[in-house]
Amino acid sequence: MLSRDKDYKGKTSARLSALIIGFMMMLMPWYVYGPQATTHVDGFWNCVITGSLIVAVAIIALIRRHDYWPAWAFALLDLWILLAPDTLSFTQKEMSIIHVLIGTVGLFIAFVWIRRVFGRLPKNRRTVKGRTFRECSSSERTLYGLVLVVLGLGYAMAIGYLYMTHSGLDGKSGVSVQDLAITYYGNRSGTRLEQMLRGPMSGMRSEDDLAKIVAWLKSGADEAGYDKTIHPIIEQKCARCHSSKSGMNLPDFTTYAGIRAVAKVDTGMSIQTLVKLSHIHLFGIGLVTFVLGFVFTFTELPAWLKNVVIVAPFGAVVIDIATWFLTKWDPIFAYTVLVAGSVMGLSWAFQIFVSLYQIIFLTYSRQEEEVI
Ligand code: HEC
Repeated sequence: MLSRDKDYKGKTSARLSALIIGFMMMLMPWYVYGPQATTHVDGFWNCVITGSLIVAVAIIALIRRHDYWPAWAFALLDLWILLAPDTLSFTQKEMSIIHVLIGTVGLFIAFVWIRRVFGRLPKNRRTVKGRTFRECSSSERTLYGLVLVVLGLGYAMAIGYLYMTHSGLDGKSGVSVQDLAITYYGNRSGTRLEQMLRGPMSGMRSEDDLAKIVAWLKSGADEAGYDKTIHPIIEQKCARCHSSKSGMNLPDFTTYAGIRAVAKVDTGMSIQTLVKLSHIHLFGIGLVTFVLGFVFTFTELPAWLKNVVIVAPFGAVVIDIATWFLTKWDPIFAYTVLVAGSVMGLSWAFQIFVSLYQIIFLTYSRQEEEVI
């Protein structure tokens, strides 16, 4: 205990610097604009309030030396200083520049402060046996950090792609359970032809045409019916675009063979497509989960939590893919696809953030360095 307190003695510099930043922020309006500061400065009250808060946090940190939260509070306040000119739409350029300068210096101090605070964390926390990031060489840490960043970016892209390909299938924006159900189960209540006729192509037909085409679809969409009632409508209303002669590269509906594909009930992805996607997914996701989990094993966290977070994405990917097939059978399983996908995403995000955080902020405490 004694040696630990001694250890802190030399480390007030970050707290003192924070105190100075707080006073600078508080007094800056008067320094820049003199006595009329109260009426002439953009965000005058913002300066005074943010400054006082920082001063308060720094004083608390100087008194209560074992608390961790002031370092975080200080970092957040600095972030706010950086964002304030934009958020509060400052018009005075010098005020914006001073804010950015103070905010940047403050963030740097916060960074040093948090690194120090974190350096002594494990002494009063239960940790796992085995190597941690502290024992890794700096080149190992660099490698792990970079692979996390790249895989994290890849994951963000995957979410973006999923959003673009799945959202709005049900006619509403955003990815919903309905969209997933349509992808895997299909929209069995209707055909593509009916969907288009009620949606984008509704301007091309009369109500009478629609009734005739729907009746034909319901009765099984056979060739005899096509020749008798549908072909004339197509020739009259659709052929100027939907024929090989139109030159518009649209499906040709002037023949039965051409219209059959859109007159079939939509049953979602075929089993073959699902099997293809599944094996790509299992290989890809399995490897990514291994790399993320491997890096994550170096973190300092309670053993049970680490195990849960390492196992979860493996379980989730298997359940996710199994339910793609089940959803084809019954759309109710679309909920499971959504839940399993979220579990996987959340555990990956947790692994990436905690690992990166500890790679950057976890340092040797001075004591440990002396021992090693
Ligand atoms: C002015 C030109 C034009 C006319 C007339 C027209 N369409 Fe279309 N149609 C398009 C275009 C362009 C697309 C592709 C754009 C899209 O998918 O929204 C399309 C797409 C479709 C599709 C989806 C094709 C696919 O590959 O999934 C169907 C079905 C369709 N139209 C039916 C009809 C029917 C039935 C009529 C007549 C009542 C008709 N269209 C009249 C221009 C036309």
